Amino acid sequence: MTDATPVISETPEHAGAPEAQDLAARGSNRSQRPDSDAFKAFITSGWAPRAALDVEPLPAAPYTAARRAALSARFPGARLVVPAGPLKTRSNDTDYRFRPHSAFAHLTGYGTDQEPDAVLVLHPVEPGTGDDGSDHHAVLYVRPLAARDTEEFYADARYGEFWVGARPSLDDVTTATGIEARHVDELRDALAKDVGPGGVTLLVVAGADEAVEALVEAIRAEAGAEEESAEEQGLTDEEWVARAEAAYRRTDAALVEAVSELRLVKDAHEVEQMREAVAATIAGFEEVVRNLARATAHRRGERVIETTFDAHARLEGNTVGYETIAAAGEHATTLHWIRNDGVVRAGELVLLDAGVEVDSLYTADITRTLPVDGEYTDVQRRVYQAVLDAADAAFAVAVPGARFRDVHAAAMEVIAARLEEWGLLPVTAAESLSPEGQQHRRWMVHGTSHHLGLDVHDCAQARRELYLDGVLEPGMVFTIEPGLYFKADDLAVPEEYRGIGVRIEDDVLVTADGNENLSAALPRRPEDVEAWMARLRG
Ligand code: GLY
Ligand code: MN
Ligand code: MN
Repeated sequence: MTDATPVISETPEHAGAPEAQDLAARGSNRSQRPDSDAFKAFITSGWAPRAALDVEPLPAAPYTAARRAALSARFPGARLVVPAGPLKTRSNDTDYRFRPHSAFAHLTGYGTDQEPDAVLVLHPVEPGTGDDGSDHHAVLYVRPLAARDTEEFYADARYGEFWVGARPSLDDVTTATGIEARHVDELRDALAKDVGPGGVTLLVVAGADEAVEALVEAIRAEAGAEEESAEEQGLTDEEWVARAEAAYRRTDAALVEAVSELRLVKDAHEVEQMREAVAATIAGFEEVVRNLARATAHRRGERVIETTFDAHARLEGNTVGYETIAAAGEHATTLHWIRNDGVVRAGELVLLDAGVEVDSLYTADITRTLPVDGEYTDVQRRVYQAVLDAADAAFAVAVPGARFRDVHAAAMEVIAARLEEWGLLPVTAAESLSPEGQQHRRWMVHGTSHHLGLDVHDCAQARRELYLDGVLEPGMVFTIEPGLYFKADDLAVPEEYRGIGVRIEDDVLVTADGNENLSAALPRRPEDVEAWMARLRG
């Protein structure tokens, strides 16, 4: 990679005396930097007028206003701050590829690597006079492109156009998102306006950008912290609860919860994006099967599987939605095996848990457990079929009106029954299924389902009553992913089971009258998996 030393930097006061040079400036010691006025004048001049970026409204733009209006309705009178997040250092002076925070992506429609340091703010306005008749007006504060006569243009390795390419102008941002755009330098004053007791409450989505959070904290401190006490005397229980609820609505935690819960039910555009992510992921699984011979021939065959899938994800989407799990043989019993440095052996199973994240940042999350040489052995098939039956039982109850927790319960009934049948449970299946038992969970310690969307574990800050205890509604998307994992050193199972790990994971859309398996095009039944592998391998 190109040496990222800015071409202009401070000259050490006493060159040759390292102790006199600030550590932060040492990065410039590795290259020769032109510093002359002649160079500066030459590099900042003689450029053709910038061609306009080819900016079109984002595909999500027609949907994001409704998402912001739904958030607005939950926080009357509050100023809501949703940072995209900063660039993150990978090592020394190199950054990870940028990915915006999912709440920012959801509310602006931005995806891919857009837009570091941007901050979406929903400003409270007179009720009903805001965007689309809501109580808020949205403004995106961004760092626009620097002019060519600035040092940033050619000398700033992190933000400069010479180094990382042209950023969108304020007009480009508005064209893409439909949101008013302003310079990020205006953020501080905009956030501080009217904040304080009796005035505007300032709330920030925590966890996205520490600098923005510190700014919000400083503004709050300057304005005088709002006293919120729900412990006043003489209130009825109802008044007390209402007051405590109102106080909670004025906390950052309530905003984090809200942006998470807002995504529990996907809109039409989100469902379309999920379909694209699933389709790209299925194509990636096919690519892996075509390359299985290469995997078995390599000393780190799991890496062949990982890189085959990940290359596909970069080519067809933004990237992977999470680190690919390519787990052969006993590695499949490690739930999040992402080291992927093992051998892939004929006769064993390989568990591939992977998802393509498309440019809008929605990701699939699919697992198949494949026989490396194309055919399951008897014991592998027995375990596989039990997991498949558990998945099918979960699908049968994943319908509107059911509770999210029912999906897991249905899968566990099958798993416990099979383990009892095989003589592995130390108690009956019924005893194991009781809250006091749960012995069957030794072989499946994870849950059966999680919401899926912009985050692979989407809606993670939603309240329990809307998540685990929540009622399924059309538009919800989640995984069904039972498994059975028998570790190689598990003395509680007969030897033939040891070292076998099976997970089958599909992505499910709840529909008006049931559900749709979005990943149904990827074979699940053992005989279908075998036929599909045979076809792909020729
Ligand atoms: N790949 C992580 C999960 O299945 O939840
Ligand atoms: Mn999953
Ligand atoms: Mn998964």
